[in-house]
Amino acid sequence: MTVKAIVFDAYGTLFDIQSVAAVTDEAYPGYGEVITQIWRLKQLEYTWLRSLMGRYADFWAITQESLAYTLDGLGLDHDRSLFDRIMDKYCHLELYPDAKQALTALKNYRLAILSNGSQQMLDDVVRNSGLASILEAVISVDSRKIFKPSPEVYELIQTELGVGPHEVLFVSSNAFDVCGAKNYGLKVTWVERVTAQALKREIGGNVAVRPATMFKALRMRMEPFGFDADFRVNSLAELPLAVAKAG
Ligand code: LAC
Repeated sequence: MTVKAIVFDAYGTLFDIQSVAAVTDEAYPGYGEVITQIWRLKQLEYTWLRSLMGRYADFWAITQESLAYTLDGLGLDHDRSLFDRIMDKYCHLELYPDAKQALTALKNYRLAILSNGSQQMLDDVVRNSGLASILEAVISVDSRKIFKPSPEVYELIQTELGVGPHEVLFVSSNAFDVCGAKNYGLKVTWVERVTAQALKREIGGNVAVRPATMFKALRMRMEPFGFDADFRVNSLAELPLAVAKAG
């Protein structure tokens, strides 16, 4: 395999979407965890609904819609400034602790992001996290007006970077994104941050499962569509070695 470009998913893979809990919990003490999980679940759900309905709205608008759904649905009051303050965290998400080191170790490859995010919100979070100088390109689905896992989106890698599917290693922790990239024909590494065994231990037979655990069970395990990842790592720290092995 001749990998020329390594292309990363953004939210949940390089940027820790769970880091919004710092602002959601500060704004609504005691509700932070449930807001954080419903917000992300609904955000992705809306990308699929809008894609199916042919009613594209960019990811910033969808992130606003899903936050409004979450707060209103839980009966939590909000004014414009509080809402904007929570939204702003999407431009200042924390990087996973091993992300920068992994990208730096892979600097001999062409490195890019392909994300559902709108160009503006991606550019902001990339700049604010200090990744701008490491990445060659930050590719948004916005030009195609449809979201992952549409094959049209993955095709943007070829359009923007001029590399064929066989020259690309796509990296995502989002199972639906792994399936979408495999369905399109890319080689894919799945960042399996939560194993089934770890999840079983975390639940530990308790009836009261925490929202964060429920999220892991819903979104962090592989979908049974028969699109298995080519490579699997448990963290980005393992990625440089996995790439070296892939050749
Ligand atoms: C993205 C979504 C999948 O960054 O989180 O494209």
